[in-house]
Amino acid sequence: MTDPIIVMKQQVGKAAAEYIESNSIIGLGTGSTTAYAIEHIGKRLQSGTLKNIVGIPTSFQAEVLAKQYNIPLSTLDMVDHIDIAIDGADEVDPYKNLIKGGGAAHTQEKIVDSLAKKFIVVVDGNKMVDKLGSTVPVPVEVIPKALTPVIRQLKELGGSPDLRMGVKKAGPVVTDQGNLIIDTKFDYVNDPKSLEAIINNIPGVLDNGLFVDVADLILIGEIIEDVPVV
Ligand code: 5RP
Repeated sequence: MTDPIIVMKQQVGKAAAEYIESNSIIGLGTGSTTAYAIEHIGKRLQSGTLKNIVGIPTSFQAEVLAKQYNIPLSTLDMVDHIDIAIDGADEVDPYKNLIKGGGAAHTQEKIVDSLAKKFIVVVDGNKMVDKLGSTVPVPVEVIPKALTPVIRQLKELGGSPDLRMGVKKAGPVVTDQGNLIIDTKFDYVNDPKSLEAIINNIPGVLDNGLFVDVADLILIGEIIEDVPVV
């Protein structure tokens, strides 16, 4: 039996890709849900239902995937706007605020997603929370030399910071920018807008995974129960 979470991710990824119109510039997010959107955009290009698009990837991972599906790519230096961006999230609150960065890509994702005229978030139903921070930490991208003082200041803010380690804990996760990620758990985030600004004001921090007032539309995957045939 297929994992229902995967079914939900496929469902919303495909649905988001249907929002793309020909002749547009598209922000391509990072993560397993967006991967299904990228795959479907590629299929639409191949079938001819979509023409003349260009993608702006938010990570090396998204770039590799887009190339695999023959999606033409460009960079922020070459375009003056982004029509639409599709990206995943780790948590979504009732006000469409997000925690992102589970894939360590939130810095580039925030640049691209916030430039888009329409930013569509694709999530499975498990990502919806009443308050941000309930289930996941806030990822903070930090310049390696500033690691220790930034950890200290995140503790002073009431967080429990933890350096993100890679597979088998052989070494820390390194971002596309060559930096480190400090996952910082808060009991919950009361005021995401001010916490986002306060964390980003710590010297050595590049950006954090709180996305406030950026998302326009949330597509939420649902488990569709099998209806017994009578
Ligand atoms: C990467 C992200 C991802 O979009 C987020 O972690 C969701 O990933 P997935 O779709 O695999 O659950 O923010 O930095």
